[in-house]
Amino acid sequence: MRVLAIETSCDETSAAVVRRDGHAITLDGLTILSQDVHRIFGGVVPELASRAHLATIGPVVDDALHQAGVGVADLDGIAVTRGPGLLGALLVGVTWAKTLAWREQLPLIGVHHLEGHLFAPTLEDPGAQPPFTALLVSGGHTMLLDVPAWGVYHLLGETRDDAAGEAFDKVGSLLGLDYPAGAAIERLAATGNPARYRLPRPLLKQAPGESTYEFSFSGLKTAVLRATEKSDNLERDRADLARGFQDAVIEVLVTKTKWAAEAYQRDLIVLGGGVACNRSLSAAMRAAVAPFARVAVASPRLNTDNAAMIGAAGSWRLAQGERDGVDLDARDAVLLPGLITTTGVGA
Ligand code: KG4
Ligand code: ZN
Repeated sequence: MRVLAIETSCDETSAAVVRRDGHAITLDGLTILSQDVHRIFGGVVPELASRAHLATIGPVVDDALHQAGVGVADLDGIAVTRGPGLLGALLVGVTWAKTLAWREQLPLIGVHHLEGHLFAPTLEDPGAQPPFTALLVSGGHTMLLDVPAWGVYHLLGETRDDAAGEAFDKVGSLLGLDYPAGAAIERLAATGNPARYRLPRPLLKQAPGESTYEFSFSGLKTAVLRATEKSDNLERDRADLARGFQDAVIEVLVTKTKWAAEAYQRDLIVLGGGVACNRSLSAAMRAAVAPFARVAVASPRLNTDNAAMIGAAGSWRLAQGERDGVDLDARDAVLLPGLITTTGVGA
């Protein structure tokens, strides 16, 4: 099954062509156009994102098809990110996908953006299949999941305030770094002194309790703010602060993921979302779970927003016989399909 996938949920316009044969998935073409217009505003400006998607979606889709050496007549289906994300940005991709599917009479599937992040490692690592423990850490989400099978997502914990990536970006702005700041903080932290700033590890209690799998990063961000206010030479202290902040975030993420994998007896951990590009995070995770589990993480290009991961998730749903109609709508907020929370089952 050959699927064209489209992703426009935030500030990357992306299209991909993937082929699925059972669990095996091959990436034949992938184009990702990042919008750098947002950098000067210190964050994504939704209206500008929509306009940029509209201007480039056609050529981006054509380029992915060209890379794969196929035309629309060779496709068996179309997958598109339906949400969550910026509504105006999502609408561009969803409308494009629906129009093409209708014109070519092709099966269509709307994909949840986070399910895409969960499938990303399968593009390079065929063994990254359930059951596993998943840590999704992006600019908008921080979620710890137990995944016994594809489509069954047991939510163990989320963030109470800022997402992990959001914390990286906000701390980056405190340290005078461009948005998004995750990669720059990682580079700075590599040269920082780990003993200089010992910042709080939020909600990291040893005794299991209500907050076992929950996260909170806004207090940590405030601690960095206080430290920058006290500093008489931020230029000198920047790397040490970046290191103190990153070490705190990583210790919390790694410890809770390890607890979850132990509790559910999983021998595979999947890391997904932009923050999973952080090599110190993946290295610390590998070291912590080495005795009983391996860690699967996609390479950075497939970890940050891209259409290949949407093709991986969408082709699985299409292969299950799922279809959406031309009434498929974009949603800025939508539950992960198959999400099971302690209070009930998501739609
Ligand atoms: O998944 P993603 O590309 O977009 C969302 O769906 O949000 O994640 C973007 C986030 C940004 O907050 C960015 O700062 C962060 O991922 N990020 C990183 C690294 N690379 C990207 N955070 C920490 N270390 C990195 N190397
Ligand atoms: Zn994402």
